[in-house]
Amino acid sequence: MDVRTVGALRIPEELRGALRAAEHVVVLTGAGVSAESGLSTFRDRQTGLWERFKPEDLATAGAFERDPALVWGWYEWRRAQIARALPNSAHTAIKALGERVRLMTLATQNVDDLHERAGSTVVHHLHGTVADPFCSGCGRPFQAPQQRRDASGEQLHLEPPRCSDCGARIRPGVVWFGEMLPRREWDIVERAAMDCDLFISVGTSALVYPAASLMRRAIARRVTTVQINLAHTELDSRITFVLRGPAGSILPELVKCVYPDQ
Ligand code: OAD
Repeated sequence: MDVRTVGALRIPEELRGALRAAEHVVVLTGAGVSAESGLSTFRDRQTGLWERFKPEDLATAGAFERDPALVWGWYEWRRAQIARALPNSAHTAIKALGERVRLMTLATQNVDDLHERAGSTVVHHLHGTVADPFCSGCGRPFQAPQQRRDASGEQLHLEPPRCSDCGARIRPGVVWFGEMLPRREWDIVERAAMDCDLFISVGTSALVYPAASLMRRAIARRVTTVQINLAHTELDSRITFVLRGPAGSILPELVKCVYPDQ
């Protein structure tokens, strides 16, 4: 079912019923959920970060070894953007949903903290967060440096700080291509995908594994699946309810029509 224009009456009744009856809802978010907060996605034409930057120059351990100042500076630039951004109505609606359903597991591929700032208390960050750098040598957590005023400039070269224990460079607290996801977070979310009776994917192209396998598992289990996205994805034909449009409008609408007193 593909619902292109969503208003209170266009959220299918079957979906409202499924949400009301759900015992365990998984919500998986991607860059699209933060787009209306002004943060760029990765793959959207013209505005996506990977349209302007090469992932192999910025998001791999090899890139950090070759040019640590470029990589550290780029993530500091993104951290500054995140600090200036505010949660939007999609983040707020997800928080409200979490308070109404029996059990919700919230997982994100985003390295921002907008779900937390909207009030969601347990957020499983599958790709780490820019706020938690750590030592590339001994793994010791490092207090993120005070935000620099000039960190608003794109591609700022900044020498990363050094670990006071082992002297190795501090690296951004994000998962790069070719790296393992944080074990504990992944285990929780993978189990949730195998246990839930409703899975909602919001603002993700569903292309990057292993996160992209979560929705596919829910589809394989034949539980109710919902995809909220501005554009189509390769999963569209296999999803129970495809809600096409901005997450910042659709999610509040969905929550409002299932829980009218919200
Ligand atoms: P993508 O940029 O791949 O996909 C963003 C999705 O959000 C697209 O399908 C858009 O159509 C959709 N979108 C954009 N604005 C939207 C809005 N307002 N409402 C609803 N949908 C909207 O981002 P991700 O799927 O999150 O990983 O990317 C996954 C991973 O790839 C990222 O975590 C990052 C990246 O490389 C690493 O850096 C390891």
